[in-house]
Amino acid sequence: MSPDHPHLTLAVCDYPEHVPQGRWADYARQQKALGLSYVRIAEFAWSRMEPRPGEFEWDWLDEAMAAYEAAGLKVVLCTPTATPPAWLIRAHPEILPYDEQGRVREFGSRRHYDFASPIYRQHSRRITRELAERYGQHPAVAGWQTDNEFGCHDTARSYGGASAAAFPGWLEARYGNLEALNEAWGNVFWSMDYDAWQQIKPPNLLVTEVNPSHLLDFYRFSSDNVRDFQAEQVAVLRELSPGRFVTHNFMIFETGFDHYDVAAGLDCVSWDNYPTGMLEFFSGWMDEDFKLRYARTGHPDLIAFNHDLYRGMLRPRSKAAATLTPHSQPLDSQPPTPGFWVMEQQCGQVNWAPFNPLPAAGAVQLWTAQAWAHGADTVSYFRWRAATIAQEVMHSGLLRHDETPDRGYAELETLNLEAMPLGGVPARVALLHDYESLWLYDAQKQSATQSYWAQTFGYYRALRELGQDIDILHPDADLSGYALIVAPALTLMTPERAAHLEAAAQTSRLVFGPRSAYRTASGRTPEDGQPGVLAGLLGAKLMNFDSLRPGLTVRVEGPDHACDVSGWAESYRLQGAEAVYRYLDGPQEGQAAVIRRQNVTVIGAHSQELLLALLASELRAAGLETERLPEGVRVSRRAGCTLLQNWTIQPVRLHGHDLPPVSFVLENEA
Ligand code: GAL
Repeated sequence: MSPDHPHLTLAVCDYPEHVPQGRWADYARQQKALGLSYVRIAEFAWSRMEPRPGEFEWDWLDEAMAAYEAAGLKVVLCTPTATPPAWLIRAHPEILPYDEQGRVREFGSRRHYDFASPIYRQHSRRITRELAERYGQHPAVAGWQTDNEFGCHDTARSYGGASAAAFPGWLEARYGNLEALNEAWGNVFWSMDYDAWQQIKPPNLLVTEVNPSHLLDFYRFSSDNVRDFQAEQVAVLRELSPGRFVTHNFMIFETGFDHYDVAAGLDCVSWDNYPTGMLEFFSGWMDEDFKLRYARTGHPDLIAFNHDLYRGMLRPRSKAAATLTPHSQPLDSQPPTPGFWVMEQQCGQVNWAPFNPLPAAGAVQLWTAQAWAHGADTVSYFRWRAATIAQEVMHSGLLRHDETPDRGYAELETLNLEAMPLGGVPARVALLHDYESLWLYDAQKQSATQSYWAQTFGYYRALRELGQDIDILHPDADLSGYALIVAPALTLMTPERAAHLEAAAQTSRLVFGPRSAYRTASGRTPEDGQPGVLAGLLGAKLMNFDSLRPGLTVRVEGPDHACDVSGWAESYRLQGAEAVYRYLDGPQEGQAAVIRRQNVTVIGAHSQELLLALLASELRAAGLETERLPEGVRVSRRAGCTLLQNWTIQPVRLHGHDLPPVSFVLENEA
């Protein structure tokens, strides 16, 4: 996405419509002087582009674009569909979405639309066409962003209106007849059989637990709506603005849609990085002490997880899996994976978490360097000047309300961009992640402390602590070339996916976490028990699973190590695998807790200590060097450089360097 620059570039999110026109040229010159290359604009500006139906006012945007162009800045222009204007909503209230409680979500903030609304889809295509006709060939336009943060504020799904009306038709197209749907969902269970498509509604407002198969299909349906909504905009942009990239700014740990599927229509992906907000708001599975220690920086692994996730988003699917997985892109038709952007980077305090501390001195530089080291080609700060109006006046920008440079601005002035070349991240470890597995896992957690993200992040964190660079990939991605492939929570298994993993095991070591292959594609369990079609590869069948409340632990013992297990413990009947760890006590005493068949290991018991020990030995067996890094100290590699990071408030010594609190050192191998 930044072919003109051999190194990291910087950008900013700017809102000319929020400030007097007299400021625009000055701001643009100042942005350029600070070393920024791009601005991202207009994602919420529909009411100023089209103040009344069919009446367009482009003069202001023409002026703003001219100011950026004159200053030598390139523009990422956004479709403004995250904020349909009042006149449109009042003319067509059926655009509004419904929450899970069945209430209409009203006009007055943002994201007040249902992706399935045919009338909104028509207006989305229309405003995109108007915008692209006017600016598609503008010399300053480098690329486009579709909408803004799909799914933000729980908006990927609507539980009434247009979505409710479209859901039965989507099911009919998927299943063909109701017998097939009743069978796939297991509707005999509580007399939930349907005999007409129109009887089926979204899975909300039920008396008690939802059928996970019903939930899974509603989530798939909602995800398809996001994908199709965006695809319509992308088609218009490609037609009218050829040669410009199209991206979307995805969110931190968002789960409302299948990101692989939605990203597949884009040239490149971007995401919005708010490290302190993320720690406070999106990491519910971490404890208070953890949140306190990283309050002013965010946690390196939470942030890096998202970088690595989005870096891998457009990786090609394997040929075999692509022919068998709906919606996947055929490998041959894909260009090489492009770099990603951080489209919104926190540069001071945020306003939306329960607590919003000022970032530590050095944090903005550290966040930027980390983003680069994990594959970002451009980092774009949110926002230029702190908003003086409406919902976000407590949020920071690079400029304060009074237009003086804020702390983040000062940190950018001394950042050495030339030292951060673009290029590949040399990951030899792949971590597999899949949104359908996530939806199923969290639909029936079975333990209040176990969630898909908690389990997946636990593996990621251990691998980072062991000094590894990691690609996060869809399980059906091309997995060739990895020494170690880790599947922490791959709940959903199909025969095709199992064959793909068996092929990967020919050349790589594989590690699976608990609850692997618990479910078929419709959300049922395999009729022959878990792990169903994966039983041959794992060399075992599941015996029992044990959900452990806080304080309730069991003990496991391996060759030269024993430890306590908390949260989750499952056991296996061996059919070719050997037991590496066994339970020493509890109801599963004597049973296998960790098993291995040749180069495939399954870790059935949850313990961060056990995970570290097992992953360290797996990495060694895979021929990879490991390094046990202290808490808060991390190493990342890109393009022949190594970034040493200290995220703690203590000085540390690493690889012969002294790192002050909240700082980094860049080693260049050349
Ligand atoms: C993002 C959003 C921005 C702004 C920002 C504040 O989620 O895309 O528009 O609201 O949060 O941190």
